[in-house]
Amino acid sequence: MSQDAIDPGRRTWIGITCGAGALGGVAVAVPFVSSFAPSERAKAAGAAVEVDISTLKAGEMATVEWRGKPVWILKRTPDQVEALAKLDAKLADPDSKRKPDELTPAYARNKARSIKPEVLVAVGICSHLGCSPTAKLQAGAQPSLPEDWPGGFFCPCHGSMFDLAGRVYKNLPAPDNLEVPPHMYLSETKLLIGEDKKA
Ligand code: FES
Repeated sequence: MSQDAIDPGRRTWIGITCGAGALGGVAVAVPFVSSFAPSERAKAAGAAVEVDISTLKAGEMATVEWRGKPVWILKRTPDQVEALAKLDAKLADPDSKRKPDELTPAYARNKARSIKPEVLVAVGICSHLGCSPTAKLQAGAQPSLPEDWPGGFFCPCHGSMFDLAGRVYKNLPAPDNLEVPPHMYLSETKLLIGEDKKA
């Protein structure tokens, strides 16, 4: 098991996006693997990753590496949580019924796709061809997104969109929601990614 706290000194690795729009337009062209500095701790392939989210504020997102993949931890604001309930008609699989064993553990089969409504944990890899979508957390009109954008994630490769629970929008190239990896809380503010109570 490896352990990583979210702190400012490590944000180059685990804090790829912190707050809305922090990534900007440049990083999206970079494959996600090169966004990560090599991590000694993550070298143990498959090891679960322990993350202290006590410093993560509402509206902020951090990224950790697990099994070579980016895992997003987004602390949603109350408004963002509330907005999730209004999107069903625009989503391909609003209730996470597709491939539940692969994509959505039983404890995340709810509107927020999470254990705690405010904390999303999702693998940041598009279900189309594997690009890493860009966080577009801020609501409102912006380039490439609908005018009534409620905040979510945009995949620049072929234009797929996901909501703030990683649910894919209808009629776009990506067929499925983003994967929610196995995870559990070791304490109020400590997450274990890669294992859950079944493990
Ligand atoms: S890889 Fe994301 S839309 Fe094609």
